[in-house]
Amino acid sequence: MGGGKKHIDRSDFLKGRLEGALSDEPMKMFSSWYQEASEKNCADPHAMIISTVDDGKPSSRIVYMRNLMEEGFVFYTNYESRKGTQIMSNPHVSALFYWDCAERQVRVEGKVEKVDPQLSDDYFNGRPRISQIGAWASNQSSRIESREELEERVAHFEKKFPDIVPRPPHWGGFILIPEYVEFWQGRLGRLHDRICFEKKEKNNWDIFRIAP
Ligand SMILES: Cc1cc2nc3c(=O)[nH]c(=O)nc-3n(C[C@H](O)[C@H](O)[C@H](O)COP(=O)(O)O)c2cc1C
Repeated sequence: MGGGKKHIDRSDFLKGRLEGALSDEPMKMFSSWYQEASEKNCADPHAMIISTVDDGKPSSRIVYMRNLMEEGFVFYTNYESRKGTQIMSNPHVSALFYWDCAERQVRVEGKVEKVDPQLSDDYFNGRPRISQIGAWASNQSSRIESREELEERVAHFEKKFPDIVPRPPHWGGFILIPEYVEFWQGRLGRLHDRICFEKKEKNNWDIFRIAP
């Protein structure tokens, strides 16, 4: 970074606090934070950064959480993409939500599995036609020669499926089932709140606070 400024602007975190908002179950707590982020019109509250690990090396990208289930967080993607193949060989994934307008972040760590094909069908069938065609046309994460190549594939599948577009077998949902969830609330003077949930056994969570 150039210029005379040594540091990015400091801002004090004043927008929220945790008291009274605690829950005994992280998905319930997440659900109320997510609702608050949506009500406050945080930008893209359902955007999450997911990190996968291949041979010890992490890689990250944004996906949209499309279903919030009691068991975990569902997103949709190409099962043969870079993230898809990484998940198949190593299901341990972390996810991060950041809601600037609420000065909150939520960190999730857990394991990912494919969702029931019926759920993927339901979601796919409700998508706009152009996105459905795109799921066939794009071999996500593979090298292509040019933009034209992609557009030709779109034209090909437009013709192939003039009416209903079936869900491609390589496209569907993954669910991240949490084993660790940390709720971070920005507070004054960098004395932020960090409340963690660590899974012990089914529906039994160790809940503790850690230093900011
Ligand atoms: C705001 C935003 C939302 C996105 N949502 C999705 C999504 O829901 N599913 C998806 O496969 N890719 C989504 N992407 C694209 C991914 O970030 C990524 O480029 C793509 O999935 C390929 O990643 P991979 O090569 O690591 O598999 C989104 C990107 C952005 C910026």
